Amino acid sequence: MEVVILADEAAIGVLVADAVAALVRRRPAAVLGVATGSTPLPVYRELVRRARDGLAPDWSGVTFFTLDEYVGLPAGSAASYRSTIARELTDPLGIDPAQVHGPDPDPDRLPDAGERYEREIHEAGGVDLQLLGIGADGHLAFNEPGSSLVSRTRIKTLTARTRADNARFFGSADGVPRHVLTQGLGTIGEAGHLVLVAVGEGKSAAVAAAVEGPVSAGCPASVMQLHGHATVLLDPAAAAGLERVAYYREVWEGKPDWQGI
Ligand code: F6R
Repeated sequence: MEVVILADEAAIGVLVADAVAALVRRRPAAVLGVATGSTPLPVYRELVRRARDGLAPDWSGVTFFTLDEYVGLPAGSAASYRSTIARELTDPLGIDPAQVHGPDPDPDRLPDAGERYEREIHEAGGVDLQLLGIGADGHLAFNEPGSSLVSRTRIKTLTARTRADNARFFGSADGVPRHVLTQGLGTIGEAGHLVLVAVGEGKSAAVAAAVEGPVSAGCPASVMQLHGHATVLLDPAAAAGLERVAYYREVWEGKPDWQGI
């Protein structure tokens, strides 16, 4: 696992946008896994800025898969992850909604929603690059502590802590849905490249457990240690709980530019 500590979220946004753009140029039919929440926003802003400045790759052949979705929101809710990714990324990039996939929270179709989503990802050829955030409790997508490390897309129940953390999108913790559909840890682990971003002191304990702790369902993000190409991008506050900071910095400073992340 590569750990890269940069000055701030803007610098992280530029580096991740570089990696995404390089992938799309190399592979015009790339499959991109996208996360929601606050963390990926600097990446999305940078990609949208490049598109506005005429510096974007050609997005017309790219397929997008979101990580997760709330269950129980009214259809078309602005807080749904489908609406969020459209608003923050794919609409501003001018991407056809048919290129964007998400778990289907339709209450009448829930029992096989996970299986159907797994099939969609498989039929698209699998995810090339998966963007990820991390919960303060170590969750990855919405795989809360205790999730099986080999889990597939399914319904999960959010912890009280995650509902409190996401209250800002719903006005109160009580307004946050209890249930979600989420890609499993096994599903996420099949992506070609995992790119996890974390910023701020509130993530430092979860980051330390995920990166330097034991691989354990107690910290779902620790499953990234089992992946052959995983990159963790942090600001100094999110890196504050790590023991090997000096080593991570030395590795990054000595890395040739052509290698990217
Ligand atoms: C979002 C997701 C979650 C978030 C995590 C961090 O699609 O899967 O795992 O990445 O809850 O959220 P933020 O970025 O809002 O701190």
